[in-house]
Amino acid sequence: MRMYDIIDKKKRGFELAKEEIYYAIDGYVAEEIPDYQMSALLMAIYYNGMTDCELINMTECMAKSGDMVDLSKIDGIKVDKHSTGGVGDKTTLVVAPVVAACGGKVAKMSGRGLGFTGGTIDKLESIPGMQTAIDEKKFFQIVNKLGISLIGQSANIAPADKKLYALRDVTATVDSIPLIAASIMSKKLAAGSDKIVLDVTVGSGAFMKSVDDALILAEKMVAIGEGAGRETIAILTNMDVPLGIAVGNNIEIIEAIETLQGKGPDDFQKICEVFASAMLELGQMGTKKECLEMVQKVIKNGTALDRFAAMVKEQGGDESYIYHPEKFKGAPYEINLTAKEAGYIVSMDTELCGKTAVILGAGRERKESLIDMAAGIRFFKKTGDQVEKGEKLATLYSSNQKKLQDAALYLEKGYTFGHEKPKELKQVFARVTKEGIIY
Ligand code: URA
Repeated sequence: MRMYDIIDKKKRGFELAKEEIYYAIDGYVAEEIPDYQMSALLMAIYYNGMTDCELINMTECMAKSGDMVDLSKIDGIKVDKHSTGGVGDKTTLVVAPVVAACGGKVAKMSGRGLGFTGGTIDKLESIPGMQTAIDEKKFFQIVNKLGISLIGQSANIAPADKKLYALRDVTATVDSIPLIAASIMSKKLAAGSDKIVLDVTVGSGAFMKSVDDALILAEKMVAIGEGAGRETIAILTNMDVPLGIAVGNNIEIIEAIETLQGKGPDDFQKICEVFASAMLELGQMGTKKECLEMVQKVIKNGTALDRFAAMVKEQGGDESYIYHPEKFKGAPYEINLTAKEAGYIVSMDTELCGKTAVILGAGRERKESLIDMAAGIRFFKKTGDQVEKGEKLATLYSSNQKKLQDAALYLEKGYTFGHEKPKELKQVFARVTKEGIIY
């Protein structure tokens, strides 16, 4: 077999055989195939797409390129959740303890921030002492005891994805639906859960900018999960506006705590209920109605918050911060962004909001950059709100005073104002299961 022939075949639009896909991916991971040939194959895939069969073979090969975690030492049905990325997306921090408090099992490996999107692990690490790199034995013990553990992805989960993602990043091949589907699902299959709930975000703060593209991505990921014997559903959610009001690290933890107390912003509280009940339903804990009632109950009676605090303690973190979030160190500098005109906020460029948070220090400009845990943005007005001239739109926080002014000027560009109230934003567009699409 020759890589040249594989590239040529894909370039001409023919379907690659399983052996050809394994030859290319395994060879690339083993450094027998150079970047320039893999780049050519990725570009051929970018233009010609992949058949379902190719996609399943590629995802399985990428998953098997490293450790396949065996969660059988954890009792019960393990349900994973994954978001395709967003701004202010702290859903896992609420949903996982809620599901655990209802009796579900969440053994979850989460990621760090990527580009303008934040990452659960970076946010968790803003809790003093919190360990996210713990060994498998302890991870299993915690999930068996508490029903929840959130840790970082170990180095050997889907190494093929790590290499391919880095190459896609520099060859303009990130925004390919089959390549995104294979990238996400390879990690999910390797992480070992029995069932998977996918949050496929849509809008200006998501990889998928249109519902049509998000539906295609969702269908492909559901087909991959089901093809690998893992029941998988996808829920399409709105990311045309930041989720909740906080974007950053410790300020998102504070918002997650408030939401676990039932005091979160309406949009975020609702999304958490949708995902937690979907996970319980998939975990066969009850009907849709029963699952939603269970979710609301554990939020109301405080057991979900207790479960979060217990996990933090078990992973070395200071649980007093969960009960007293005022202990989180705020940023030394802040600046308000005010409305230059009166009217309605017609739209927000959510990617730009995420990039502003990165400028403030909440994300990484370079791979090796250190995160400013207190940096970020709190939004007081979002799309659909009416504002007076001079009214506060947002507060920006940073430990670097010099960054604030530029960041505020940049964020201002992300708002569009108008005189008419825009149509109310839909929060959930559709649900995709192996049976089809439900609107
Ligand atoms: N997230 C991933 O893990 N991979 C992609 O390709 C895009 C988003």
